[in-house]
Amino acid sequence: MNIPFGMPIIGEEEKLAVMKVLEGSILVHGPLATKFEDDFCKYTGSPYSVSVSSCTAGMHLVYFALGYGPNDEVIIPAQTHVATAHAVELTGARAVFVDAELTTGNIDIDAIEAAITPKTRAIAVVHYLGVPVDMPRILDIAKKHNLFVVEDCALAPGAKIDNIHVGLYGDVGVFSFYPVKHFTTAEGGMIILKDENLAKRLRLLKAFGVDKTYSERKEPGVYDTVALGFNYRMSEIHAAIGIEQIKKLPLFLEKRRENFELLKKNLEEVRGLRLLPQPYNDKKQSCHYCAGVILDENLMSRRGEIITKLGQKGIGTSVYYPQPVPRMTYYKEKYGYEHAKYPNATRISDGNIALTVAPHVTPEQIVFMTNELKAIMKDING
Ligand SMILES: Cc1ncc(COP(=O)(O)O)c(C=O)c1O
Repeated sequence: MNIPFGMPIIGEEEKLAVMKVLEGSILVHGPLATKFEDDFCKYTGSPYSVSVSSCTAGMHLVYFALGYGPNDEVIIPAQTHVATAHAVELTGARAVFVDAELTTGNIDIDAIEAAITPKTRAIAVVHYLGVPVDMPRILDIAKKHNLFVVEDCALAPGAKIDNIHVGLYGDVGVFSFYPVKHFTTAEGGMIILKDENLAKRLRLLKAFGVDKTYSERKEPGVYDTVALGFNYRMSEIHAAIGIEQIKKLPLFLEKRRENFELLKKNLEEVRGLRLLPQPYNDKKQSCHYCAGVILDENLMSRRGEIITKLGQKGIGTSVYYPQPVPRMTYYKEKYGYEHAKYPNATRISDGNIALTVAPHVTPEQIVFMTNELKAIMKDING
């Protein structure tokens, strides 16, 4: 058996679409990035979408556009990819970490207010493993303290609360199309938002701050630069892949849900672990990024052994995320690390094994995976 943790599903449609771009003369500044943005608006219900070169670039672009700098702070979950924090720190502002909820791994909403200072400008949340954060509660806090809300939706296309797509609750939602994600453009990202002026500003700043887009220039090559900006654009090649991939997203999501439900059923009552819940009901819909297995505390030191044994059977795994971000060397050296502030994020980081439920995996492979894990746990439990 060979079950990789992540495997992009690229069909003939994507290959043909890329070839068509390569055979033409427009590789950037073309209609496909715009079409992909329109498709993403339709999929999520967002009024505006701005394509970018990655989710990290998108989040950085947002904080940069808001003018954050050394006197500003952004609340960040400790249980996330380092990109969520780096995007803040790249502006000179400070990422202020808040612990996770033990049950879901999402930010502990009860702990947010204690982290707010006069310098706090924004709250960033991450829909961990595709499980929506309770956004109405986040919005209440943000309103009370006049804070901007960023939803890091890197793991969350298809996740909804009350049938509204995540990313639309906050001021912006930022998505990732990295290969192991729900769908891919190789590298790529998308910002969704409701504020037309901010959308315009993001478009300006993602392209050097030049005043005229390629198609707006009356004389070729003639433009002015009105702001400091980046090159964070998405190319036509990446967009061409995205246009084909997003058509397949509903099917991909269905397969993920079925795989997760089967995996959950097969791991019920296994001693020594629990599965992080992934709600899928009228109120909250997870998009099942992967299955988060959390080992019992007394078995955490055996995680490496379990992962190795699964690997020997051809079962790919991952860890989401390998450390609470404030414990990672860069942040630890910068701010110091107090374990007592992040007991839940630490518990989840150090005790988790991520199993794939992605659409490349068949139900038979899910059964194989869970049977092997059960056998390993039986051995370990004695
Ligand atoms: C929560 C989260 N945010 C951001 C990123 C970074 O996304 P990208 O690689 O598109 O910059 C990741 C990557 O896995 C992630 O998990």
